[in-house]
Amino acid sequence: MSRSPEPGVTPRILRGALAHTPHDPFRHDGALESWHDGAVAIGADGRILDLGSAADVCERHPELPVQDERGGIILPGLVDAHVHYPQLPVVGAMGRTLLEWLEACTFPHEVRFARADFAREQAKSFLRLLAANGTTSAMVFGAHYAVAMEAFFVEALASRLRITSGLVVSDVLVPDALVTSPEIAYEESGLLARRWHGVGRLRYAVTPRFALSCSDELLAACGAVLRDAPHLSCTTHLNETRDEIEVVRGRFPGEDYLGVYERHGLVGPGTVFAHDLHPTESELARLARAGASVAHCASSNQFIGSGLFPMRRHLEAGVHVALGSDVGGGTGLSLLKEGLVAYGGQMLLGAAGEPLTPARLLWLATAAGARALGRDDEVGDLTPGRAADLIVVRPPAGSTLAEVLPFAASLEEALGQLFTLAREDAILETVVGGERVHRRGSL
Ligand code: GUN
Ligand code: ZN
Repeated sequence: MSRSPEPGVTPRILRGALAHTPHDPFRHDGALESWHDGAVAIGADGRILDLGSAADVCERHPELPVQDERGGIILPGLVDAHVHYPQLPVVGAMGRTLLEWLEACTFPHEVRFARADFAREQAKSFLRLLAANGTTSAMVFGAHYAVAMEAFFVEALASRLRITSGLVVSDVLVPDALVTSPEIAYEESGLLARRWHGVGRLRYAVTPRFALSCSDELLAACGAVLRDAPHLSCTTHLNETRDEIEVVRGRFPGEDYLGVYERHGLVGPGTVFAHDLHPTESELARLARAGASVAHCASSNQFIGSGLFPMRRHLEAGVHVALGSDVGGGTGLSLLKEGLVAYGGQMLLGAAGEPLTPARLLWLATAAGARALGRDDEVGDLTPGRAADLIVVRPPAGSTLAEVLPFAASLEEALGQLFTLAREDAILETVVGGERVHRRGSL
């Protein structure tokens, strides 16, 4: 752990309302820690030096300049556990369920990423918009082309965000232009992982698209990359729609969906599965035993019509759950909006739903994501010693959120309003490792 000064970091105190979840609110009452007039001190090494009431923190660090953000709310940086970099322009493609949507809209768009210059421009916009939405760490589903991933990692390094990503591989039931071979997938994935894993804040994830579009040989190649380098992450899709599950069952008779990935060594504590809307009890138990995580992609599940997420079944089985925006199936890059849609989904499940309090939503959008991405020793809350990844949320003057926030009786109530109303334009500043990576109004 580096304690030396980081070049882009100005040691300072940020003062404002402050909230974080250093404990899991699904297990502990009172897990939300908050201050109406709080402060967080950032050291020269980009780590959190101190946290507490503004009076206490300012008294303990009189040498530090104060960035006065009163009127704003300081939160840990948001963590998106599942988002596709080559799908921004696919957002809003209405009228189709998953397999139709992939075939008609998504695959044709992703073919364009064969061009490195196009990929690089898209990567730049995508990463800029992640930061603008308050996302500081993300598990990013990549593109099918090594040139597009090279361009993406170059831009991700420059963005200073904490990005985990990898080359997406498929060899069946996708357009020819997206098809790879097990040999090429093994070689290109290994090369990209050796080149980029551990560089700056970047990490590599082995990324088969989903069992439906991968042969056994291709999944074996993915397993081989992970066996060579067990420290890498892995991410893919699981049990998203009933139609998809039927096709997978037809392609891999005698196995359930998770079993296909298990047989190839792809299920472990470093694996993040997107969706898992229709799991069996056995799959949930095995996910929990493996320590794998599930990214709940609430707006995508609703938009594509895939179903309502059985969060309670996951939590009762001991499966770790985080939030993913799943752009472009999802309806935008705001993890705050994902929180709201997740909340609504659980409400619609009635007695079978898991009540999502504002504290639980904050946990899902921050610390739970950090844990899914294997970064929870570093980020996820504002405990001193952690890297200073945080956001300042401040509604634009005259917005609905600006009107309602003063009526919140507590910071927890204010958080409920944020999840309901705050979007991209409410994110004033995004900070990663103490470095400012976004400030509203400045490019
Ligand atoms: N399953 C395989 N590919 C995709 C994708 O791009 N989006 C979603 N939502 N599900 C998938
Ligand atoms: Zn996805």
